[in-house]
Amino acid sequence: MDNPDLSHHWLPFSANRAFAADPRLLVSADGVHYVDAGGRRLLDGVSGLFCVPAGHGRPEIASAVSDQLRHLDFAPPFQFAHPDGFALAGELAGILPPGLDRVFFVNSGSEAVETALKGALAYHRARGDAGRTRFVGRERAYHGVNFGGLSVSGIVRNREAFGTGLPGVSHMRATWSPDQVFGWGQPSTGADLADDLQRAVDLYGGSNIAAVIVEPISGSTGVLVPPEGYLERLAEIAAANGILLIFDEVITGFGRTGHAFASQSFAVTPDIITMAKALTNGAIPMGAVAFRRGVHDAVIEAAPPGGIEFFHGYTWSAHPSACAAALATLKIYRDEGLFERSAHLAPTLQQAVLDLKGAGPITDIRGFGLLAGIDLETDGVPGRRGFAVLKQLFNAGLVARVTNDTIILAPPFVATETQIREMVDIVRSVVAGL
Ligand SMILES: Cc1ncc(COP(=O)(O)O)c(C=O)c1O
Repeated sequence: MDNPDLSHHWLPFSANRAFAADPRLLVSADGVHYVDAGGRRLLDGVSGLFCVPAGHGRPEIASAVSDQLRHLDFAPPFQFAHPDGFALAGELAGILPPGLDRVFFVNSGSEAVETALKGALAYHRARGDAGRTRFVGRERAYHGVNFGGLSVSGIVRNREAFGTGLPGVSHMRATWSPDQVFGWGQPSTGADLADDLQRAVDLYGGSNIAAVIVEPISGSTGVLVPPEGYLERLAEIAAANGILLIFDEVITGFGRTGHAFASQSFAVTPDIITMAKALTNGAIPMGAVAFRRGVHDAVIEAAPPGGIEFFHGYTWSAHPSACAAALATLKIYRDEGLFERSAHLAPTLQQAVLDLKGAGPITDIRGFGLLAGIDLETDGVPGRRGFAVLKQLFNAGLVARVTNDTIILAPPFVATETQIREMVDIVRSVVAGL
């Protein structure tokens, strides 16, 4: 296939000049494989970008989207709706933690985060508590790229070029500490870091804080698993102070931790859950926010009868093709027992990845469920070795996510145990040569 002109498309979160000099073009995909422009088959070690757990090229999803586009290509989402939006919200309510059964649709994880933050503000205002405008986020968090999400995130490179962000945001410390290295699952130390929320309460006044937002497992900064007791403590402090707890489950949602949501794996129920990515198995952009019924009801009931309750939404909210893709995806997850399969495969990933210790300049390995982070020793310039490794992995036949100097693996749930071991073997061959 002829290479396209690479000059017009500005790639997101990419080294554009390096890409143009040495492109990694993916031209097709099936199951757990990509095919690149040279016809090479590559293993997909990260489920696309954490969004294709049921494997690529699912005909059920393609047919559902195609049928929907012929049947109802678009319905305006403001003051109108279509049946599939309600059907999908109902299906999600069935797999979400009990009580979180009011669902608002968006088109990405970033929009889900904005919606969650705005929903929290609207809730407090509806209850006559409009002074609660502060948010608490966390260092090393990733909550997307829009201004709200950026402000509660904790990644310097994502923030430093873009001004001051939202006012009134403070950050808790991240949960990783050196005594946790080469562990797997929840570290036994670090629960006390949840007291950083208490410090924010003591400093700013709990009655000024609208919400605290965390990823149950920080994904994009390298799979930081919450210490035992940490999320429980966070929930306790939030509840004691009337602060809404938001779990950003954009990566952890839909089976990555062995349950539909990490909230269920960790047995801690927040007030709001954001989700996106695997909602449509990556086929169509879509995100969603699940609100605890009481949060939703407070906003709805505060508005005058007949009036719009929440001045928020997107042209593509609950787009018919996205709803069709999501409904088909949830059916696949259910029919094929893929969340259970994820739990079943997790020990294979765990064992294979932990065996990498000593195979090269690896300083830590962490993980939970079908999500693993492998830290490489920096070569002096943070991220330089990571980028070199990303390219070497690609050349060796593996698509992985590399963030800074951390390799992240998140295999599709339809991968076989052998394929998971093959993915890790490719990592081994590359890090051994460093
Ligand atoms: C936890 C979390 N929140 C939000 C986002 C942003 O999602 P999107 O890229 O769909 O806007 C991501 C993306 O990786 C994420 O991991």
